[in-house]
Amino acid sequence: MSGSNDHIGGEARRYGKATIGEAAARLRAGGLVAVPTETVYGLAADSTNAVAVAEIYRTKGRPDFNPLIVHVPDIAAARSIGRLNGLALRFAGEFWPGPLTLVVPKGKDCPVTAAVTAGLETIALRCPAHPVMRQLLEESGLYLAAPSANRSGGISPTTADHVARSLGGNAPMILDGGPCQRGIESTIVAVAGGNYRILRPGPVTQAQLEAIAGTAPLLAKTDLIEAPGQMLSHYAPSKSLRLDAETATADEYHIGFGPVPGDRNLSPDGDLAEAASQLFAALHEADASSKAGIAVAPITDNGIGIALNDRLRRAASPK
Ligand code: TXA
Ligand code: MG
Repeated sequence: MSGSNDHIGGEARRYGKATIGEAAARLRAGGLVAVPTETVYGLAADSTNAVAVAEIYRTKGRPDFNPLIVHVPDIAAARSIGRLNGLALRFAGEFWPGPLTLVVPKGKDCPVTAAVTAGLETIALRCPAHPVMRQLLEESGLYLAAPSANRSGGISPTTADHVARSLGGNAPMILDGGPCQRGIESTIVAVAGGNYRILRPGPVTQAQLEAIAGTAPLLAKTDLIEAPGQMLSHYAPSKSLRLDAETATADEYHIGFGPVPGDRNLSPDGDLAEAASQLFAALHEADASSKAGIAVAPITDNGIGIALNDRLRRAASPK
């Protein structure tokens, strides 16, 4: 494919050497690119470029008090912009590259533009595992600010098509790397001193964190400063959502799990990792169906199930 259609927004392009090169050039020039990660698709920009970062907020319709995650290629890069103490380094050593975001104090002379951290003294850092995102980091040489590539408040995208539909005419170039394997956003952990708090449950479970830390997490404060993006109504489909539904009415699209078949089953075997990979696609499909409402079967509330139930509660809370 030639580069002649560079100006067309929202066009999904199968990733490959040429498209990665083109995407990296756009990022270096201050543009945005939607890119797959192992969790969800991200809307990436150069984290040191104030204009580019402002464009992320504008494209998503995101409130400016809600800070962004900076994606880095490795621990050394993370240490050049954030202060990782012993515990943070142990978490990074175990779970990076992977679906864990660490919130740590900002480094001295951190080059990341102020809007990324929304005025906080901390910075959220993640070293992603997905080969496309990793190649983009390497090829661009940038540290990439990237929130999930959906309109603010909407369902996170796990396919290129979700990105195109959620951002519509605002969508930038989309690198299509197929469906995201994890399907649910990274676990966010704030580390301070020898303690840690889970700000957002995700694919890395509390039990896995405890095994590395040797202690249980402190309870996360629920105020907006602590986790500005964790407002209750989030990840929301446009229809009403009913939880713990063993059965559904005729005008509800039923998302099943385990023995509850549903119109679409997240995992007939009751496998929570498989269910996580399917959750947002199922919500997108339910939202697009002809049914007036959505009902979701009970999901086991442990391990990754805690993250699934967190997202579902937010999706079900009144808008
Ligand atoms: O899996 C993921 O984390 C995906 C992929 C693209 O990496 N990204 C993602 O970004 O979910 P976003 O922007 O949708 O969610 C980031 C969350 C928000 O809730 C934000 O408030 C929180 O991270 N966050 C960012 N910086 C923070 C900070 N310094 N302190 C506390 N929370 C922070
Ligand atoms: Mg998001």
